[in-house]
Amino acid sequence: MHLKKIVLNNFRNYCRAEVIFDPDLNIFIGDNAQGKTNLLEAIYYLAGGRSYRTNQEKEIIHWDQDSFILSAFFETIKGSYKLQVVNYLNGKKKVKINGIDYNNIKDYFKAVIFSPDDLNLVKGAPSQRRDFLDIEINQIFPLYSYNLQNFYKILRHRNKLLKLRVDNKKTEQSLQVWNEQLVKYGSFILKKRLEVINYLSGPANFIHRRLTDNRENLFLLYSSGLDLKIDHTIEEIKDIYTEELEKKREEEIRYGLTLLGPHRDDLKIFINNQLTRKYASQGQQRTCVLSLKLSVMELIKE
Ligand SMILES: Nc1ncnc2c1ncn2[C@@H]1O[C@H](COP(=O)(O)OP(=O)(O)OP(=O)(O)O)[C@@H](O)[C@H]1O
Ligand SMILES: [Mg+2]
Repeated sequence: MHLKKIVLNNFRNYCRAEVIFDPDLNIFIGDNAQGKTNLLEAIYYLAGGRSYRTNQEKEIIHWDQDSFILSAFFETIKGSYKLQVVNYLNGKKKVKINGIDYNNIKDYFKAVIFSPDDLNLVKGAPSQRRDFLDIEINQIFPLYSYNLQNFYKILRHRNKLLKLRVDNKKTEQSLQVWNEQLVKYGSFILKKRLEVINYLSGPANFIHRRLTDNRENLFLLYSSGLDLKIDHTIEEIKDIYTEELEKKREEEIRYGLTLLGPHRDDLKIFINNQLTRKYASQGQQRTCVLSLKLSVMELIKE
């Protein structure tokens, strides 16, 4: 795929700009606050339909304007395309491919970003590493986002019930119903996360060794409250998840919280057998995230 050109209208500090890209390498040089990062954000937005810097889409619209328009002109083996996104202050979004309305921005091209904010991935809370996994897996497996959204919806309902902290026949029956749904969506997420981490491990270590002159080995481990193995089938994961939820029932009622599942897990990253979250230096954090991001690119290429 070659992204040939993008046109920005009222996007961040750009009123109107047209940028033409080389197929191989592009370098943006400029003074502070000229819009280099905003340009990268625009490309990322066109790939996934979301910013990597904010969830508040109105922040991306140029001040005093009520919408932005981004257009990408690109070529794939299938032909030439123009992808256009219009985003309004009221949250409405319109996507067009070659002038025809389209509802999914994600199908056309993919982007992997490495930015200063990504350094939080190593030292930050587990939720940041889960977000990393979820965002990248989402680009690759369209069904992932459907399962993730449903999982969190069920989780909210289930937690509401647990917060009542009542342990009787009725609660037990209701929990049974939520458990089935939680396990159904949760197991899909767990399986995909295990698969993706298993895939990324090789390339991430290979890249990391290259970046560090073979001085460091990078190792990835999916750390879950459930005892999962990479070769577990989705059916096996469902059985394990169901069984463990059953065992945790009393504790969950006591805490008023769902204690097991993909929402509690973490991606553990080790450099030379040491947990990076605790021990990595600033430079190591940077190379570690870069290795991870480049390995995601390898996965996308596959
Ligand atoms: N919604 C917006 N409307 C108008 N301007 C905005 C908006 N959001 C951000 N900006 C401005 O865009 C400018 C350029 O930001 P950007 O982060 O792209 O700079 P940069 O070229 O990457 O600079 P640096 O080299 O310092 O990182 C900033 O001064 C910021 O105030
Ligand atoms: Mg910048």
